[in-house]
Amino acid sequence: MKGVPLVLKTLVFLVMHSNASRKPHIVYILADDLGFNDVGYHAREHESLAYTPFIDRLAGEGVRLENYYVQPICSPTRGQLLSGRYQIHTGMQHEVIHRPQPRGLPLDNILLPEQLRQCGYKTHMLGKWHLGFYKDEYLPWKRGFDTYFGYLVGAEDYYTKVACMKKTHRESCGVSMVDSQFGDTNSTWGEYSADLYVRKAREIFQNHDPDKPMFLYLALQHVHAPIQVPSKYLTRVPRFRHKKKDKIRRTYLAMVSALDEMVKNITTALKEANLWDDTLLVFSTDNGGRPDRGGNNWPLRGAKNSLWEGGIRGIGFVHGNLIEQKPNITRDLIHVSDWLPTLMTAARCKLASGTPSLDGVDQWNTISKGLPGKRTEILHNIDPLFEKISKPELRSGFDTSVHAAIRSGKWKLITGKAGYDNSWFPPPESTKCCRMKPNEPTADKPIRLFNIVEDPYEENDLSESYPQMVDLLLEKLAEYNATAVPVIFPKMDRKAYPGSRGGFWGPWKN
Ligand SMILES: *[C@@H]1O[C@H](CO)[C@@H](O)[C@H](O)[C@H]1NC(C)=O
Ligand SMILES: *[C@@H]1O[C@H](CO)[C@@H](O)[C@H](O)[C@H]1NC(C)=O
Ligand SMILES: *[C@@H]1O[C@H](CO)[C@@H](O)[C@H](O)[C@H]1NC(C)=O
Ligand SMILES: *[C@@H]1O[C@H](CO)[C@@H](O)[C@H](O)[C@H]1NC(C)=O
Repeated sequence: MKGVPLVLKTLVFLVMHSNASRKPHIVYILADDLGFNDVGYHAREHESLAYTPFIDRLAGEGVRLENYYVQPICSPTRGQLLSGRYQIHTGMQHEVIHRPQPRGLPLDNILLPEQLRQCGYKTHMLGKWHLGFYKDEYLPWKRGFDTYFGYLVGAEDYYTKVACMKKTHRESCGVSMVDSQFGDTNSTWGEYSADLYVRKAREIFQNHDPDKPMFLYLALQHVHAPIQVPSKYLTRVPRFRHKKKDKIRRTYLAMVSALDEMVKNITTALKEANLWDDTLLVFSTDNGGRPDRGGNNWPLRGAKNSLWEGGIRGIGFVHGNLIEQKPNITRDLIHVSDWLPTLMTAARCKLASGTPSLDGVDQWNTISKGLPGKRTEILHNIDPLFEKISKPELRSGFDTSVHAAIRSGKWKLITGKAGYDNSWFPPPESTKCCRMKPNEPTADKPIRLFNIVEDPYEENDLSESYPQMVDLLLEKLAEYNATAVPVIFPKMDRKAYPGSRGGFWGPWKN
């Protein structure tokens, strides 16, 4: 720029380096099986001992999503997050991807990391994939991540990284830990995964060229089963009654405390690498907690793997300088499929050509500026393979024996078996609370209708009083159903067992 006046040079420099022209770094932290009542800022209102001071502070500085929905189980939430599409449009309607099952999130989806990469981002992923690995082309680093370090399966030991189909069958046991650069690795054997992923995140931040925007998808193992924690975290949880299930709960709460520490250390690492001021941080859960494995969703009904609010109402918040809105809570309806278009707008990126049509909507102005949300409806799912409630029974064009749910405005309609056992689960550590007195039996019924705004805990089935609303929502379900693709759910394949792959889980059908 020889000969260019200094004032112009300064101007060019300022424009190039100002926040306005720079794309944000995006760090997306996904917690696993964390219940609605397992974060400090909900726990305080609902008799839970979950204590997450750091997460609470971050959420308070950012914007909390308090009408935020995810899917009831792991693979479907992750699939919707990365594709921006409902399960009925990707064939992922049924269950999670089981380890020996030859399927994956279909390749015609252009995933969020690929979208961001095409727009100039360096893209990294750490932790749980759970979107299929039977062939090489389904691996995370073939789907848009420049680097990946983590486990491909849905759950494993926090120290050994071993996952078994049957513990008694050695062939079915193996390590799931893979580095996109060096392949299968056993080098993390014995390292608790909280320490592991913080260490790996720090390496990514320190090696990052600060002139490029970075995307890190950090899909944590915490706080999914198995319930394992170093004793130093247990000492942070107050003692309560000593029944067997309380021991599980107490260990789980210690894992929640480890999760809080991870988030804290990750932000410290971002600050140390000088990336924090330009970082947009998203925190989200993937589904409700499991009461039998320590999680708690009180006062919401149901749990993971159900279409009750306890299965699908998520914890979420966004933090960063790009967030302008005050007060710091949004009660607009937001769904996990919205992240792809929302983060693309935050990054000022255009969707890649060839992106199939999305079900997610761009909520960036709602999250960052508090403008009214763009979503009034969520298809929670239609799963024709879920256990049916009775014989097929058609009403308004929809078979109500099938597991399905839709939210439209304040109304929610559930058909077929909702999943889990239709109950409410008070936190085991509470001495004063809790008993619901619902006008609503926990037996299965083909149709239930709730006004979620007035009755968020699903205590009053209004389907008898509002038959026209039932019909209207059934018609909507039938319309969605007409756009559904067939479910992909192949048989388990024993050839996948790690015994024939040197003791590691990985692609077996190339
Ligand atoms: C909202 O944000 C401000 C400024 O960051 C903070 O002081 C306040 O505590 C937050 N409010 C809530 C309800 O978290
Ligand atoms: C977080 O950082 C503290 C202080 O350096 C350290 O003692 C702790 O082990 C770290 N925890 C994790 C999970 O990284
Ligand atoms: C969805 O559509 C398919 C194909 O028309 C039909 O066989 C099925 O019964 C419908 N499902 C429900 C729940 O109505
Ligand atoms: C991983 O390392 C542990 C400890 O050295 C060892 O017992 C185990 O067999 C190794 N597993 C594999 C798959 O190499």
